Parts: sequence; structure tokens; C-alpha cells
Amino acid sequence: MTIDMPAGTAGLRLTCIDIRPETPGVKTFRFRAGEGVAVSVVPGQAMMLAIELAGERHWRSFSISGAGADGTVEMTIKAQAPGGATHWLHERLAPGMTLPARAARGAFTLAARSGGPVAFISAGSGVTPLIAMLRELARTDPEADVAWVHAARREDDILFAPALADLQLRMPNLAASITVSHPGAGWFGYRGRVNRRLMSVMVPDFAVREVFCCGPAAFMQEVRLIHAAEGGRKERFYTERFHTERFHTESGGVAAPAIPAEVSASGNPAGDFHLRAAGRELAIRADETVLQASLRQGVIIPCGCGEGLCGTCMVKLDRGSVALRHHGGITPEEEAEGYILACSSWPVTDLAITIG
Ligand code: FES
Repeated sequence: MTIDMPAGTAGLRLTCIDIRPETPGVKTFRFRAGEGVAVSVVPGQAMMLAIELAGERHWRSFSISGAGADGTVEMTIKAQAPGGATHWLHERLAPGMTLPARAARGAFTLAARSGGPVAFISAGSGVTPLIAMLRELARTDPEADVAWVHAARREDDILFAPALADLQLRMPNLAASITVSHPGAGWFGYRGRVNRRLMSVMVPDFAVREVFCCGPAAFMQEVRLIHAAEGGRKERFYTERFHTERFHTESGGVAAPAIPAEVSASGNPAGDFHLRAAGRELAIRADETVLQASLRQGVIIPCGCGEGLCGTCMVKLDRGSVALRHHGGITPEEEAEGYILACSSWPVTDLAITIG
């Protein structure tokens, strides 16, 4: 699934052309890029949108649920707390409005697949990148042997049921199982949270499948343990590697990324270099990231995964050089344009950055 829009950062804008409700609190937003603009979207990736809140621009990353040959891209987004970006999208965004955007990014894609039987396992809004992958498989490999497992809280919360029914008509080897943890009286499907016993009923050959799993961190860890306990190989288990709900959360904490081997831990608490950010002169140690140094001294840089995956912490490097170690959260074009990921960049010289 590739649509044409430019891959760089500057100037990319998406216009909302349609909004449709999916379940209570979840909507799908369809966007189109400007005329003649082009970027690749690989199913499973996410895109960033900029939302103005109280006069400030906030970049947020959202999984892509679908993209069309007509150059449209869809994001299925759950509304979070009032006052935040997702709430604004649900309450204020309307067809015809345009938002700044950044190129699609992320390594949680079908590129990892070896071609054998697959299991797509999701909980809640973690299903979003997986439905994009399933749509891609329906297009490129409709005979694929796919086990689809989705866990929802209530029947009303089951996402993409009509799309799944349509895909089943085109994919003869697609077996879908839905489990609901708080079912109503009329629910006749699986009940309860995903555990080893339930998984062995829903997907008896789970161990031999390549697994793509997305959902809250505890859910992904549980599914990973089940796969290992059944004899599955850990290198055939793929997750988004960050907590999807947190990824969509307005606040987001900061994980501590691993320090690159070539970055020496000086242990100088005062700082080894200078960091100019938000009009202030900060200190930054050789063994801390731009994000850690900024937050330590009260300069806020928006952050999602804290692991170089999501791109939320991208800032412009105006001066100096850094050691950047990321996991797909920045495109080569963005690096060439002078952007870095604050959570995954260690200073090599004095630095100056622009946030936002
Ligand atoms: S916070 Fe996700 S890439 Fe830095």
C-alpha cells in the first residue's frame, strides 16, 4: 500500500475529507495530501499530526488504519482526556480543515514476515496498525493463512467488524476470533481476557505462527509469554515495542534509552556541553540525551515512546552534532533536513535546537 506524498518534514499538510464513527469514543479520520505531493505509507506505520492547543503546536503520532490508491490515508483514533489532542480531533476537526503532518514512520510492518502462517493479535485500539496490514495482505496475498484475534472490553468496543467481514469474503484462510472481557447478555463469542487456555482454543497452532501483536504493554507481554510457552520462537514475535495507549496519551513519560557505546559516561553533573533550547542556555552531560537534559532543567520537549520509535520528540538541530540512535522514528529525509530525535540523541559538541 503506497500512496504518493513527499517524504520530508517541512510543508506536508493533510486535509480532512471525511470523519466516521467506529465505536463509542473512536472515530476514523480520512485525509488527503495536497495536489502532487507524495510519501510512502507502509501498513503498520504511523503518521504525526500537529494540533494547536491553547496557542501551542503539539505533534502527536497516530497509527494508520488504511490508505487508498486515491492518495487518501485513514487514522482511527480513540478520544482521550478532555483538553488533549485526541479530544480536539474528535470535537473540533471537521472535513475541509488542514493539519501540518510528518511522513509515515515505524518498523512494525509486514516486511518482517517470512511468508508462513501469521497471527494478528490485538487489544483495544492496538488493532489499528493490524487492520492496515490485513488489508495489505488481502491485496497482495489473499490466500495467506491468517489467525485474527481481537480483545475488546464490550461488544460495542469491537473495532473494524464490518471491514473484517468483508476481508473474510476475500481471504478464504482468514480465521477471526473476538473475545470480550465484559460481555452483555446477547454475546455468543469468546469471553474473558486473553490467556493461554483461551489462546489454545482460538489459535491451536499459535506456536508455529509469526505473530504481530499490538495493544497495551501488559497485554503484549502476556501474549509474548503465551507464544513462548507454546514453543514459539521469540524472533517470530513482533510488537510495536511501545505502549500503544501511552503512545496516544497526551502526557507520556520518558523511558531511558540505552547509551551508545561510543558515548562516554563522564559523570559530570554540571554538564560537558552547552545546549541552547527554548531561548535558554542549558547544560548537557555527554551521557544524557537532549530530552533528558532539557527536562532536567525544565524545558519541555513533547515525548511519546522515549525509544526512538514514534518521532514525537523530533526537534531541529540548528548547531552542533549528536550521536543519534533510533528505531525508525525519523526518516532519512528528515535527518537530511537537520532534524534529530531528542530522546535518542547524545551530544558530541555544544548544541542549539528548535523545539516544535
Ligand atoms: S519520544 Fe518517540 S521517538 Fe522520541
